[in-house]
Amino acid sequence: MAELVAHTVVPGTLAGTPQPTFALGDGVELRPWTDRDAPGLRAAYADPAIQRWHVREIGSLDEARELIAAWRRGWGQEQRLEWAIADGAGALLGRLALKELVLFDGIAVVAYWTVPAARGRGLAPRAVTAVSHWAFAVGFRRLELEHSTLNPASCRVAEKAGFDAEGTRLGAALHADGHHDMHTHARLADAGRPPLHPARDTPTKACSV
Ligand SMILES: CC(C)(COP(=O)(O)OP(=O)(O)OC[C@H]1O[C@@H](n2cnc3c(N)ncnc32)[C@H](O)[C@@H]1OP(=O)(O)O)[C@@H](O)C(=O)NCCC(=O)NCCS
Repeated sequence: MAELVAHTVVPGTLAGTPQPTFALGDGVELRPWTDRDAPGLRAAYADPAIQRWHVREIGSLDEARELIAAWRRGWGQEQRLEWAIADGAGALLGRLALKELVLFDGIAVVAYWTVPAARGRGLAPRAVTAVSHWAFAVGFRRLELEHSTLNPASCRVAEKAGFDAEGTRLGAALHADGHHDMHTHARLADAGRPPLHPARDTPTKACSV
């Protein structure tokens, strides 16, 4: 059956090019994961805050390497795009991901964490901003971001990276202590455009968690 409209992001656009690296300032860069990140990745997932919000732990270096291998495959499969945030010496400071890619609609979901020692330096918002600009340049139209209403630090990342608040999905994600209400944000490539359906469009709400 033929599709009546073309894909927003042409399949093969990503897989046909090397995964880019971005400078975030202060000697910090966003770059593809390597096996050398395995010890830092395992240590990051021992942090209670990362365990709480990402609902995962890494039991061994082999598990960390397997996760890195899966994240690296995501680029060629055009399913999930994963970057490490690292300092000039290569030490792991965080993670930035675009997951749940839908090339037809040009949509992806942003995910991130920073290690405890690197928090409060604006690294997560800088990483989200850099990847958002790149994603819009390669054709993505809408980036989504979601966090628990009990995670105000993540809400600040969304606000600082220019993601408008869209609303709350009640009981939408399972955490260790049960299902959480999830606050949703989005940033559009053509933010500021005239609305397609003015009568139906409602203004986005300010972040209130
Ligand atoms: C949320 C998180 C990604 C923010 O990353 P970051 O690189 O510290 O981002 P910022 O420096 O911009 O800080 C964002 C907010 O975190 C809070 N914060 C600042 N310093 C902090 C610290 N040392 N420890 C914890 N939170 C801190 C502040 O509320 C800050 O907002 P502000 O700039 O208005 O004061 C990071 O705290 C984290 O990884 N937390 C655990 C995992 C997580 O929550 N992931 C997101 C799931 S949706």
